[in-house]
Amino acid sequence: MTKTCDIKVRDGVFHLSGPQMSYIMELRPDQALLHRYWGPGLNGYDGANQPDPAKRAFAAALDPDDPRFSLETASLEFSSPHRGDFREASVALRRVDGHPAGRWHFAGYEIRDGLHKPEGLPHLRETESGARTLAVCFTEETSSAELTLYYSVMDGSDALIRSARITNAGREPIYIERALSALVDKPFEGDELVTFYGSHLKEFQISRRPLGHGVTSIGSRRGASSPQYPPFAALCSPGADEHSGEVRAVQLIYSGNHTVSTERDQYDQVRTLIGISPEDFSWKLEPGESFETPQAVLMFSGAGFNGMSQEFHRLYTDRLFPPQWARKERPVLLNSWEMAYFDVSEEKMLPVIREAADLGFELVVLDDGWFGRRNDSKSSLGDWTVNEEKFPGGLESLLGEASEQGIQFGIWFEPEMISPDSDLMRAHPDWAAAYPGAEPLLSRSQLVLDLTRRDVQDYVLDTLSHFLETYPVSYIKWDMNRHMTDAGSALLAPDQTVHRYMLGLYRILGGLTERFPDVLFENCSSGGGRFDPGMSFYMPQTWCSDNSDGLDRQKIQYGASYTFPPSAVTAHVSAVPNHQTGRNVPFATRAGVAASMNMGYELNILDLPPEDKEQIRRQISAYKNERDLVTGGEFFRLCSPFEGDVCAWMLTDPERRRAVIYAFTPAYDAAQIPVTLKVPYLKEEQLYTDEETGRSFSGCELKKAGFAFRFDRGDYPAKKIVLRTDMSKEAGNDHETV
Ligand code: DGJ
Repeated sequence: MTKTCDIKVRDGVFHLSGPQMSYIMELRPDQALLHRYWGPGLNGYDGANQPDPAKRAFAAALDPDDPRFSLETASLEFSSPHRGDFREASVALRRVDGHPAGRWHFAGYEIRDGLHKPEGLPHLRETESGARTLAVCFTEETSSAELTLYYSVMDGSDALIRSARITNAGREPIYIERALSALVDKPFEGDELVTFYGSHLKEFQISRRPLGHGVTSIGSRRGASSPQYPPFAALCSPGADEHSGEVRAVQLIYSGNHTVSTERDQYDQVRTLIGISPEDFSWKLEPGESFETPQAVLMFSGAGFNGMSQEFHRLYTDRLFPPQWARKERPVLLNSWEMAYFDVSEEKMLPVIREAADLGFELVVLDDGWFGRRNDSKSSLGDWTVNEEKFPGGLESLLGEASEQGIQFGIWFEPEMISPDSDLMRAHPDWAAAYPGAEPLLSRSQLVLDLTRRDVQDYVLDTLSHFLETYPVSYIKWDMNRHMTDAGSALLAPDQTVHRYMLGLYRILGGLTERFPDVLFENCSSGGGRFDPGMSFYMPQTWCSDNSDGLDRQKIQYGASYTFPPSAVTAHVSAVPNHQTGRNVPFATRAGVAASMNMGYELNILDLPPEDKEQIRRQISAYKNERDLVTGGEFFRLCSPFEGDVCAWMLTDPERRRAVIYAFTPAYDAAQIPVTLKVPYLKEEQLYTDEETGRSFSGCELKKAGFAFRFDRGDYPAKKIVLRTDMSKEAGNDHETV
């Protein structure tokens, strides 16, 4: 198989391919763009999987002379209502006279180098490695609307990137009621559906179930991608596991309201749709204007869920995260939140900075509570000036101390919000999102700023820019702690606001991160409430949960790793009893869970006994020796905490010279039954030495026979296994033949 991507066209058949993936469509200019295949790479396609269409009762034929062909039964690439396809549509338009418009005719196609970048939206980036894009255009018979479907493939990747653009080429406005990013139909082959569900403190829980008939959908109407149902779904073959089986996954590069749905229909076809939620959505498109959908990533893996994750990790590292950060080792940080909550001050932070530097930290982050009159969650969001009672003379002395100690300093903001009790609200009461004439609901005592407005966007951009010019901090934690209820605006029609809010937010994030490329931005929304590829385009790391409990974190991080590499997932060691669960997970386990990803701490280091400080010093130093695996290595899940009592994962360098395995269990087994961990993904012919025992095993043996060990006695134990090979010792059969 070649590493390069390709788009071939023959007799109306488009064959898009990655190294191990083919995606095939057939254009019937008088009928539709038909979906033909998405799966393991093919060396050609002649329609072997297409039976002759059968004539069906109830089906409406587009052509009375060809009654067997109806959109009701066809496998499609996009679909509009009222044309005989009664499944969920991907595009729905209404003319100014109120009638639907959905009679699409093929108008041409184009293949070009590079990727398509949807205007104003986060997107995959161009790199030196190649990419090809197919654009297929249609015009609408009754309205002069134009629809362009974009398909991109990239060298070395099995992802297919889809998005759509609708243009009003007519003289009257058009209303877009539905504009999803991708629709794919496939035959049902026993597929199972995998999605995430969750809540605050319980993000990325994996749900897997058989796909029954009817529509199964997840989505968000919260104005954020949400911890409840982030925009991801995978269809997998029934036996698929971490290491084998077919997986077809979709994920949206978007952070607002979305829908992901699957429909297993009457004839056992499965339709998958992903895009902006059509609920509460309508977009007036004036003549000459275009509307772009977010990009959807379609990922095929023939090597199970780890295969899928490897592809996502590589794609996002190479083309999504800000390039200057994507492979850069991240500073080990100490955050003030669980140490002091709102009760921060210069007096408290100065000794923390000194102690932190001594223990090996590289960045101290001042979380909530430093601005306005903020002593609890009830006030001051929007008043981004330093509280001089807590920090006399501003933040200069903290920045000065950090620089003297040779460490960096970072700070927390929640820029999208406004407290009713704030100077900003008193000055601009119409800047809070609300439906005119109706009092908006509070959540965490705060309201959402109306980021659909250019003046409000500029205010946020200018305020943060001014802050960063005054205080050259190295890091910003960008928080967002409520969902939208009253997503209205004093200036806009009610149904247009949430997506316009997202465009406003992306404009601010794009502007700021461009102006301050050296500032490390961390995404947060009460933890992982908006952990999606849209936010990750601007911010290379995300605080993935407010739950810092070393046991709960195992499932949360396991789920997050489905599409995000460990560099993108921040994980902190916090105090025990844990502030969220009251649990006492041992220090080593908490550190192991955090060190598996982007590690930090969040506890009062001044309060600790000397032996704990010593442990922190050692943990940080060990992590620094290994964190190249977090940013530049590969991450594999070995054992799922959703399926049994052991959670295990492995980090390796790309050459597989070094492997660090972490295994955890909630329950020590009194019968001391050993755990035998199968460790695939190493070089089978190489000998790997276990750092703890000095014993060596071949990669083949580790994969097939497995590595057996016992957890230490006690609550929530962890086991760390470090395996190394110098690539010189070839494994062989050292047994004599008898
Ligand atoms: C929610 C975040 O997830 C926490 O880490 C902390 O920053 C608080 N907000 C501060 O209000």
